[in-house]
Amino acid sequence: MRPMLLKTNIPSLKGTIAIPGDKSISHRSIMFGAIAKGETTVTNFLLGEDCLSTISCFRKLGVSIEQLEDKVIIYGNGIDGLKEPSDILDVGNSGTTIRLLLGILAGRPFHSVLIGDESIGKRPMTRVTKPLQTMRAVIHGRKNGEFTPISITGGDLSPLEYVLPVASAQVKSAILFAGLQANGTTTIIEPAKTRDHTERMIQKFGGSFEVDGCTVKIKGGQVLTGTEIHVPGDISSAAFFLAAGAIVPNSEITLKNVGLNPTRTGIIDVLKEMGADFTILPYDKDAFEPSGDIIIKTSNLKGITIEGELIPRLIDEIPIIALLATQAEGETIIKDAEELKVKETNRIDTVVGELSKLGANIKATDDGMIIQGKSELIGGTVSSYGDHRIGMMLSIAAAICKDKVFLENEESIYISYPDFFKHLQSLIKAD
Ligand code: S3P
Repeated sequence: MRPMLLKTNIPSLKGTIAIPGDKSISHRSIMFGAIAKGETTVTNFLLGEDCLSTISCFRKLGVSIEQLEDKVIIYGNGIDGLKEPSDILDVGNSGTTIRLLLGILAGRPFHSVLIGDESIGKRPMTRVTKPLQTMRAVIHGRKNGEFTPISITGGDLSPLEYVLPVASAQVKSAILFAGLQANGTTTIIEPAKTRDHTERMIQKFGGSFEVDGCTVKIKGGQVLTGTEIHVPGDISSAAFFLAAGAIVPNSEITLKNVGLNPTRTGIIDVLKEMGADFTILPYDKDAFEPSGDIIIKTSNLKGITIEGELIPRLIDEIPIIALLATQAEGETIIKDAEELKVKETNRIDTVVGELSKLGANIKATDDGMIIQGKSELIGGTVSSYGDHRIGMMLSIAAAICKDKVFLENEESIYISYPDFFKHLQSLIKAD
């Protein structure tokens, strides 16, 4: 496919965007709807390819799911209603689908085979398969269960007390799904607090759990009941336009309905510390999943250090934060972020490699990167390498480039933000 010519040298971005549904919450709404009893209605569901992969897998597991644009109705028959799939479950590019699905299938007394695309085939799975095997699921995969294709036969599960070796909401969630089916109480201890959408959804579907700091306990044998879910906008998608508003000259963008779950708002903390000019309008902090509107304006930014417990709260935003740092005065250090190496691409390599091509002063480290600002970005040919967040970050970088920018593999952006270019264009036209 020919590389896409991106818009460069954009003089100003002005207008309002309704941020599309949150990817993590959209996946989970299908999963919980599928294992609950009764009807679940989901609105503002994200129509990205990853979430459509989740729908397709659950249909193959015998769940009836109706979808009309961004409204989805799931007719759940309880967890025992899931049926042995006669076809392979293809998760596409979605790490959340495969890892959480393994947790659900760990307790199901039938055989399933899971595959994904080339990127999924390189992403580590033993972080999930090992604890599930300890709970007595039978799992086989390439390289001792590390890589797809993976086969799983579940059944009676023993409860587990597990200290997560990495801060990962996907691993925590997989064990929570297995724990819901185990014979007793499962305890999960995280090294740092990760996104808690699974826990919030257990409650929303009438289940319960106990939480104390980084420890979560879940009782097996709970029956969940269908409900109504309105998915808030994805802060990880909003992050691209928050950055665009801050670095493109003469800009003012209003982002509507941005998810503001505190386990996801690391990007807001970073914008604040960098000195960005933004306002969050009043919102209901006690909602099932809080959300609000944000106004961002062109800002003078300064370099900062990002590390420790903040990392899981902004892990998916690091590519766009790296771009912000190229436009901030001074040095930005990102550390404790080794997990970037096992995302859709090795995001230390892809961020550093592609931003360097555009003229940024950025160096990779073992656990992150160091960026010197402020640097003028020039232009060139760059690639998303099939990673949606790299593709979107580069498209925003292009907005401030002087020369032409060509983007290879721009289609990866459909994985999480099908309307991304439409939204960007609407802000240019509005000027
Ligand atoms: C996700 C958790 C994060 C994140 C991913 C979505 C989730 O992954 O990077 O995009 O929905 O639970 P890890 O759990 O591997 O950190």
